[in-house]
Amino acid sequence: MNTVQTLQQLRAAISQARSADKRIALVPTMGNLHAGHIALIKQAVERADFVVASIFVNPLQFGPNEDLDSYPRTLAEDQSKLFDAGCNLLFTPSAEDMYPQGMDQHTTVSVPGVSAGLCGGSRPGHFDGVATVVCKLLNMVQPDMALFGEKDYQQLAVIRKMVADLNMPVQIFGVPIVRDEDGLALSSRNGYLSAQQRASAPALQQCMQAVKAHIKNGRNDYAVLFEQFNTDLQAAGFRLDYVELRDALSLQLADANSTQLVLLAAAYLGTTRLIDNLIFEL
Ligand code: PAJ
Repeated sequence: MNTVQTLQQLRAAISQARSADKRIALVPTMGNLHAGHIALIKQAVERADFVVASIFVNPLQFGPNEDLDSYPRTLAEDQSKLFDAGCNLLFTPSAEDMYPQGMDQHTTVSVPGVSAGLCGGSRPGHFDGVATVVCKLLNMVQPDMALFGEKDYQQLAVIRKMVADLNMPVQIFGVPIVRDEDGLALSSRNGYLSAQQRASAPALQQCMQAVKAHIKNGRNDYAVLFEQFNTDLQAAGFRLDYVELRDALSLQLADANSTQLVLLAAAYLGTTRLIDNLIFEL
């Protein structure tokens, strides 16, 4: 597996793969790779002939008081995990190469509708940063397909809409959430948790499962269910950011016609913000 840093090197490697008629997959990441990221690479290896991963901690998608500087950077370990999973090429651009004129002078991609509310409500500008960098990476690599995790459910919806709206010639695949044995969704941010917080963290998923079970049993007094959810989460040491039930396909508020639902939540343990979601049918 080669690691390249510049766009020129990337283009050279890609055109070689293209002239060998290979189907190319892109898996964008911010590094500090865990089994969730590796599941995306493995899916990509199954679906394509040439798998490109990118590692770029994108400053444009971090708010002013967020964890851009402390975000874990573990390139050597990441390279060896990618190699073991069958990745063919790793692209690690610098912020200067991505945004040569600075971020505030850069064209941005803004995806209306699905970016609003949920994480978009708590993290203003976040999805503009995500859409912009993913659009750039797709244009740089020009893959046949790109893979994203359902862990970041709203992000996946934003990317699907961007690709559809801008007629980008790429197929988008969503990959189910990979969890730890105790149910906690794997995340690079789990590394911020103290041992005690890590022990409490699966409560987020457990409390969401309880809400899901009530809804599947026919309850639709969501305000009451969410109040109980909040109380249970607080008892486990969390501070709730949001919990919502949405239509899993449109990501709009669930209505009487919704059969595929997604329960989405974000909550803080100390200063660490965790997100999770559950997709289910009614
Ligand atoms: P990052 O958080 O590094 O995640 C990279 C990809 O891995 C995303 O598609 C994310 O949904 C997926 N992923 C993370 N944890 C997962 C899990 N437990 N199970 C399944 N998939 C998981 O998401 C980003 O980076 C960035 O916003 C990015 C898309 C790279 C743009 O900068």
